[in-house]
Amino acid sequence: MELLGVHARVDAAGNLCGFYPGTERKAPRLLIGSHLDTVPNAGAYDGVLGVVLALALLEELRGRRLAFGIEVLGFSEEEGVRFGIPFIGSRALVGRLDRELLDAQDAQGISVRKAIQNFGLNPEEIPQAELESDALGYIEFHIEQGPVLENLNQPLAAVEAIAGQSRLEFIFCGRANHAGTTPMHLRRDALAGAAEWISAVEQAARGVHGLVATVGKIGVKLGATNVIAGEARLTLDVRHRSDDIRLRAVEDLIGKAREIVARRRLSVTETTLLDQRAVAMDSVLVEEIERAICKTGCKPHRMTSGAGHDAMIVAEKIPAAMIFLRSPGGISHDPAESIAVEDVEKAIECGLHLLDQLAASPEFQKRINRA
Ligand code: GLV
Ligand code: MN
Ligand code: MN
Repeated sequence: MELLGVHARVDAAGNLCGFYPGTERKAPRLLIGSHLDTVPNAGAYDGVLGVVLALALLEELRGRRLAFGIEVLGFSEEEGVRFGIPFIGSRALVGRLDRELLDAQDAQGISVRKAIQNFGLNPEEIPQAELESDALGYIEFHIEQGPVLENLNQPLAAVEAIAGQSRLEFIFCGRANHAGTTPMHLRRDALAGAAEWISAVEQAARGVHGLVATVGKIGVKLGATNVIAGEARLTLDVRHRSDDIRLRAVEDLIGKAREIVARRRLSVTETTLLDQRAVAMDSVLVEEIERAICKTGCKPHRMTSGAGHDAMIVAEKIPAAMIFLRSPGGISHDPAESIAVEDVEKAIECGLHLLDQLAASPEFQKRINRA
C-alpha cells in the first residue's frame, strides 16, 4: 500500500485500511475491499483476491486522482471459523460489534475481546472503526465460489442480492455407557440421534427449491470406540434468498430434532449464532457494474450470491455491490480453489471502467456533494 502512496493503518477491529486521496483533500471516499481471513484447508483466493484487486486498481490509476478518494479494506474476520460468528470486521464498520459478540468464545475459551487485545488492539476503541459520513459506497470483488459463470462461459457477474443465512449450534444429549454391555434397545446414543437428524436436514433441504442446509461440524463427547456417545455437538448452516423460507426451514429442522430426541429418549438444545437477512445490492451500483462489464466486451450477468460477504453487512449503512469472478470447477473453501489470469485482467479492466463511470455519474455526483 505504501508503495502506491496509500496511507495504511489497522483499525480497532483489526481491519487493514489504506486511503488513496481524491482530487480534493477532503473528497469523500469509495470503499473497495474484501476479507483477509479464510477457512481451514482453504484455497488462495476467497476474500484476499478482492483486497489485491483493489490494490491493482490503485496501481493502474498510476497516481491519477478521482472525484472521490478510495479506501482499500481488508476485513479482519469474515468467515466466522474461530468464534462461530462471521463478519466481525465489517460489523465494526456498521456499529454492530456489540458486547454479546465480544464475549463469544473460541474452542479454547478465548473471547473475541481477549483475541483483539492479544492482537495488540483495544476493544474499547472499536466505535472508532465505524464508517464516517464521507463513505460513498462499497464495492467488493470476489470469486463466485460456484459453477454458474463457468457454465455460462462468462468471466464476470454483477451481484444483485446476497442470500440470508442462519447458523446454529445443536447439542444432543444422551447417556454415555459401555458399548459392549448395553443392548441396542436400552441405549440413549446421542450420536446416533444426531446422525438421524443430519439425514433429515439433507432430505428437508432437497425438498425446497433454492434451499441449502449443511451440518459442517460435529464433535462427540468423549469420543471413544467402546463408549456410546453421551453428547454430540453439531453446527447447522441454512441459506435461501427468501428470509421467510429460510426461517421456516430452521423452525422445521428444530422441530425435527425435537421429534427425534423424544423418540430416542435424548434431549436437545439449540443456540442461534447468526440470523442474517438476505440483502439487496444498491441498484445504481449494480447497473454501473453491468455497464462496466459490457465495456470489457463481456456479457453482463446478474446473480444472487449464496455465500455471505462483508458487502451484506456494509450495505446496512451505505450503498454496496459486488463483482464476481468465475470460479474454475465451481470449487471454493478447498485448496483446489482457483482463478484464471485472463478473468483477473477482465476484473481490473471492469474496475477501472467502473471508477471512471462513477466519477462521471450524475447520481454519484449527488452523493459526493451530499457527503
Ligand atoms: C462465507 O464464505 C460463507 O460461509 O458464505
Ligand atoms: Mn469463504
Ligand atoms: Mn469470502
